[in-house]
Amino acid sequence: MLLVDDDPSLCDSIALGLRGRFALRSANGAAEALALFEAERWDVVVTDLRMRGMDGVELCQRLVGLDPDVPVLVLTAFGNVDSAIAAVRAGAFDFAQKPIELDDLALRLERAVAHRALRGEVAALRAALAAAQHCGELVGAHGSMLRLFDLVARGAASDATVLVVGESGTGKELVARALHAAGPRAGGPFVAVNCTAVPEGLLESELFGHVRGAFTDTRAERRGLLLEADGGTLFLDEIGDMPLGLQPKLLRALQDRRVRPVGGSGEVAFDARIVAATHRDLESLVEERRFREDLYYRLNVIQIAVPPLRARGGDVLLLAERFLDNFARRAGRPVPRLSAAAAERLLAYGWPGNVRELENCIERAVALGRGPELGLDDLPEKIRAYRPHAVLLPAEDPSEIAPLEEVERRYILRALEAVGGNKSEAALRLGLDRKTLYRKLERYAALALATSATNTPKP
Ligand SMILES: Nc1ncnc2c1ncn2[C@@H]1O[C@H](COP(=O)(O)OP(=O)(O)OP(=O)(O)O)[C@@H](O)[C@H]1O
Ligand SMILES: [Mg+2]
Repeated sequence: MLLVDDDPSLCDSIALGLRGRFALRSANGAAEALALFEAERWDVVVTDLRMRGMDGVELCQRLVGLDPDVPVLVLTAFGNVDSAIAAVRAGAFDFAQKPIELDDLALRLERAVAHRALRGEVAALRAALAAAQHCGELVGAHGSMLRLFDLVARGAASDATVLVVGESGTGKELVARALHAAGPRAGGPFVAVNCTAVPEGLLESELFGHVRGAFTDTRAERRGLLLEADGGTLFLDEIGDMPLGLQPKLLRALQDRRVRPVGGSGEVAFDARIVAATHRDLESLVEERRFREDLYYRLNVIQIAVPPLRARGGDVLLLAERFLDNFARRAGRPVPRLSAAAAERLLAYGWPGNVRELENCIERAVALGRGPELGLDDLPEKIRAYRPHAVLLPAEDPSEIAPLEEVERRYILRALEAVGGNKSEAALRLGLDRKTLYRKLERYAALALATSATNTPKP
């Protein structure tokens, strides 16, 4: 903080009183203060009101002119309300009355500094919002999302089948819609079918249609969704749950671009772009023979992986602001600010339900919240109380200095343990690509084998 007064004894006593709590430098009068202010960045300025030459009010005006975000605190004579008002008009953040009570002053200073930090955070958020890109209804600014938007744009231009993968709630359906909206078929229909929601017995005729009398109770024929999506896009959601028995028929249809309605003998050509999505690990389903490999390859022509929210850094706040805006407007209420404390929690939380969970959290906060700020109290207990699992090295002998490589090995094995052995997740959390992690693990395994081989007593 910069302390301005032309009375060195007051400066000294404040400096002494706040020692250890604030890094402080004093300036003897306004001219020196302005020179120091322009030379360096200050979190807060405290100035006396009455000084020779330029007084505190004018100095405050000049400082705020130079940096509108700097909080200035003015020291006024006890009971001098007029000068306090003049200071606030000049842009002072706060004032304190003499004689100075150090604890009171310290409290006001802390508030001023916190305010400045918050202004900085909001400014950073605004900048991120301005840099944020849109892709259909998807919002994002993180590198991984910008790469995804690029892939969507390129994928949309082609007619190739797309497989969208990602955890639940990451935005896979929005990706499918964006692919449709940005492509040449945007004018055609977007037809979605959820393979989990439709009962197995009905899915076949849903997709491929049926002729009249195909079932005992069918009087009319039905075209089926592949034909209804003609000229547009068919979105096969939760494709991982497609019954195994139906998979060969879907594969045939996709290969031949023709459908055979249930009960019919003829085939009808269809012209729809196929986008499929799943939150399951299709490759393991293939290994377990619960999903046909040939269908998997047919669908996986272009794969778009949507990253989990916890791997998108500041996008959490970007999306939170977006949802705050949406829900407040919808409720016809002024848009609340996100408090610094709430923002910090949102960033720390792991979001297992991804964007959907964040959206629900903000909707709830807007519905139940009062006041102009979304604070900690407006967040669900689960998020308020969240402590990230610390991946710590075991308590070691403090005198032990392990080679960095060994520390890395222990740390990686610990991380792997913390995520239940899921290598993709461990790589993501460690900021490594999967191949690098695999390489390291193989090396550790080889080393362990070599050591155990040399340690095995020879017969
Ligand atoms: N990047 C984003 N920008 C704005 N809104 C998003 C974004 N991603 C997701 N959403 C919103 O989050 C919610 C969940 O998205 P969506 O339904 O597309 O997820 P999903 O991956 O299909 O989930 P599931 O696997 O459970 O079906 C939706 O309300 C969607 O509008
Ligand atoms: Mg979905």
